[in-house]
Amino acid sequence: MSEKMWAGRFTKEADATVNAFNSSISFDSRMYRQDIKGSIAHATMLGETGIIPPADSKAIVAELTNILSDLESGKLEIDPTAEDIHMFIEAVLTDRLGETGKRLHTARSRNDQVALDIRLYLRDETAEIKSLLQKLMTVLCDTAEQHADTIMPGYTHLQRAQPITFGHHLMAYAQMFLRDMTRLDDAARRMNQSPLGSGALAGTTYPIDRELTSKLLGFDRPTANSLDGVSDRDFCIELASAIAIIMTHLSRFSEEMILWCSWEFKFIELDDAFATGSSIMPQKKNPDIAELVRGKCGRVIGDTMTLLTMMKGLPLAYNKDMQEDKEAIFDAIDNVKLCLTTFIPMLETMTVYKDNMRNAAAKGFINATDCADYLVKKGMAFRDAYKITGGLVALCIEKNTDLEHLPIEDYKERSALFDNDIYTAINLETCVNNRLSQGGPSPESVKAQIKQVRETL
Ligand code: ARG
Repeated sequence: MSEKMWAGRFTKEADATVNAFNSSISFDSRMYRQDIKGSIAHATMLGETGIIPPADSKAIVAELTNILSDLESGKLEIDPTAEDIHMFIEAVLTDRLGETGKRLHTARSRNDQVALDIRLYLRDETAEIKSLLQKLMTVLCDTAEQHADTIMPGYTHLQRAQPITFGHHLMAYAQMFLRDMTRLDDAARRMNQSPLGSGALAGTTYPIDRELTSKLLGFDRPTANSLDGVSDRDFCIELASAIAIIMTHLSRFSEEMILWCSWEFKFIELDDAFATGSSIMPQKKNPDIAELVRGKCGRVIGDTMTLLTMMKGLPLAYNKDMQEDKEAIFDAIDNVKLCLTTFIPMLETMTVYKDNMRNAAAKGFINATDCADYLVKKGMAFRDAYKITGGLVALCIEKNTDLEHLPIEDYKERSALFDNDIYTAINLETCVNNRLSQGGPSPESVKAQIKQVRETL
């Protein structure tokens, strides 16, 4: 396997450093299934069209099937010194079939071959990421259901703002992940065209049947332009971007989990199986997993930048730079899968401290808007009501009390519209339950949101 496919034109062996530098087998060998699948479709088409004798086509297909099962069983090991997975499999085939094996690469180039393999590989991986997202959303819906009426403070600027429910907060993430799924669907749909038959760049003079290979491989159609077929990596960039957005959502969620775990919040506690200790401080229980997810978001954004930067200056068609696509997109895929696989059970097993959420919601005057709204509902203009409520909050701070415990006389002194029913109006349960607007935090609204997400799933 040491003699190069192109040895005929060369007078020298490649330098050892060149071989190692040029080789991609260490990272593209993971596409061996897709490479064999693509070659089987290509060989079938070559036989059907009579480009190679049908008997040779059959022999090639049969031997490729053997190679696949030998690789799966470990009987055949991948040669780490091979140039790439495409060369390796073709070399094994030729080794085993002699002359017949040499016919496989008729009317094909490694350029359309590699473009095909990546699309096939990414198509499978996209489906896996999607099913992990589905699992995550099921856990989100289940947890939100349990906490549809668990009151917590809602924040802006990380300052207590208005009361919401924990279910409402969780369902906000469900919406983000739902959009992520549609982004994956979009990427998968645009990816699903077969570049096979583009050749090196200019198609081929053989009477190939691109529709047939496209159909055999489950693509929607062949790509429309052979130059584009071999030089397009939009589908890698698009998938990496979709993954980077998923990671950004996971990272924001992680950041909140980290805050919620702290003694300053103590809204949740992670299960011991999903937390770590310290080597020196015996009391510590650290949210390492959430922190790592937040950290890994950075590298996935980096992977997306790698792909964009790698492509931005490339003339048509194939350039070897493009071999760099695989490590970047594989890294993004591996990491989002790792993160989701660990994040989902971490979320599922956390303990929610409802009382701490409720107590936090009772502080910080988060019912001030509701107090102003009370006056508005009794006929006052909002801006006036806002001003009066601001005065009441200032008075509470001065008296070291809250709106719930401020005597009715103090209310009445500022507006005759106030009556004893103000206490019901600013009660946190009332504040949350009355936020019935579509998409809002009331238990009823949260249940509707859960229903919508479950139905979409
Ligand atoms: N290993 C190469 C890659 O990943 C395969 C394509 C090589 N084509 C070529 N003309 N050198 O891009």
